[in-house]
Order: sequence, then structure tokens, then C-alpha cells
Amino acid sequence: MTVSTAELLDLALRVAAEAGSLVRRLREEAEVSVAATKSSPTDVVTESDRASERLIRDALLTARPGDGFLGEEGGSADGSSGVHWVVDPIDGTVNYLYGLPTYAVSIAAEVDGEVVVGVVHNPVSSETWSAVRGEGAWLAGRRLQVSQVSVPEGALVGTGFGYDPGVRARQGAAVATLLAQVRDIRRAGAASLDLCSVATGRLDAYVEQGLAPWDLAAGGLIAAEAGARVAGLGGAEAGRRLVVAANPVLFSALEPLLSEAGFGTA
Ligand code: IPD
Ligand code: CA
Repeated sequence: MTVSTAELLDLALRVAAEAGSLVRRLREEAEVSVAATKSSPTDVVTESDRASERLIRDALLTARPGDGFLGEEGGSADGSSGVHWVVDPIDGTVNYLYGLPTYAVSIAAEVDGEVVVGVVHNPVSSETWSAVRGEGAWLAGRRLQVSQVSVPEGALVGTGFGYDPGVRARQGAAVATLLAQVRDIRRAGAASLDLCSVATGRLDAYVEQGLAPWDLAAGGLIAAEAGARVAGLGGAEAGRRLVVAANPVLFSALEPLLSEAGFGTA
């Protein structure tokens, strides 16, 4: 079956905007609190995460009933169309909880297991990044291009930390080693937006261990379509073990440093 990526993109853009309006309104109207914790006491979920995922799932599957769905807050559906949606209803939940503006709705469409469309929408800044495989990455009508910084000492590097305390301790040690070798480190708190920042040249590189599929799917395509190499170390695919995103020259220069610092071992 041939799938129209233009149709998937239009749908993802519309649904991301609707979910973004919902979570922003909920944040403005009511006190947001922790509804539950998940993998550890620091891994929180709010009612807004759940409401956003319900909205996204209902809207996508109403428009395209045969599609599959995977959402961070537990939503899943097997599909028969070959299209599978991978969704983070709020990426940056801790920022959202504290009223910090760095959070996003992230929606990706996979066809036969490959991400072909990605949309990341920050409802506070009203910025929407999008990409279609093979057709580039875009923000506000502008085609995106990663930075051309080629040396680690000139690179602003984004990172993040998982929720498991043991893993977090190892990640902190690796970042401490890297800090002495790069321009500086940023920890913004939303992996999808970190990847979009690489796409936009607001970061030169991004590295994080332990990402789930919904953290990576849309932002990873957006960074790649803006010219980033998005992968693990030593030719591995990007995934839970490690995600590195940077222009290919910087990626190669960072690779031995990341390996020596201990990234990809947790
Ligand atoms: C988290 C954020 C954070 C990253 C974590 C993610 P969530 O997602 O993207 O920046 O460091 O690895 O789990 O929990 O806010 O959806
Ligand atoms: Ca989330």
C-alpha cells in the first residue's frame, strides 16, 4: 500500500497543535500536580500527559482507523495499515510541572518500521518543527541546516539524564569528563527539543543514554533531515543505549571522547 507522507504530516501537524493547546491551557488554568510516578520517584506523570495522549490517540485513529499507535503513557494499538504512530504526549514533563517553557508534543509516523514523518511542537514558544524523510526539516517555513562546527572545543552539547538513580550517576560522571572538552553543556529537559535544537543550530551536538522510542522518533528524523548524523557509537543505531546527533564531521571528532568518557556503557 502506498502511504501519502503529505497526508501523515498534515494530520500530525493538526493533532500536535490541538494537543499543544490543550496542555498549555491546562497548565494556565489549573495547578498541575503529579498524578503518579513510573519507573522511579523522579519519573512523573501528570493528568495533562494522560489527557494529551488520549486526545492524540483518538484524533489519529479516528482519522486513520487502521493505523497502529504507541504512546508513552501506555496507549498502544496494533494496526493493519503499515503506519504506526509513536507519540510523546508531553516531552519535558518535569519542566511542565514546574512551569518551565521547555516542553513539547512529539508525534512521529513510521511506515514499515521506519520513521517517515516527525512533528515536534512547543506550545509555549509556538514553534513547530517538522520533517519528512528525504524532504528536509522545517521550522516556520525555513529549511533547517545543522551547524558546521567541526571541533569538540567549539561545540555546545546538549544532554539529558534518565530517571534511574544508578544510571544517572554514571551519566553524570560521563558528562563531567566531557565538560572539560567542549564549549559547554546544556540540559534543557526535553529530548525531542534537544534534537530540534541540533537541527536548528541552537546546539552543535546532543548526546543521551536511555532514550525511549517516543523521545527519539520525531526529533531524530528532524535532526537527521537537517543534516545531522544520528547514531550510537561504533556504527550502532541510535537507541536506548545511546543517541548522538551532530554534523558528520563533529560526530566523528566527538566519538572517541564520548567513548572514553563512558557514554553508552550504562
Ligand atoms: C524525558 C525528557 C528528558 C530526558 C529523559 C526523558 P519525559 O522525557 O526528554 O529531557 O533527559 O531521558 O525521559 O519524561 O519528560 O517525557
Ligand atoms: Ca513524556
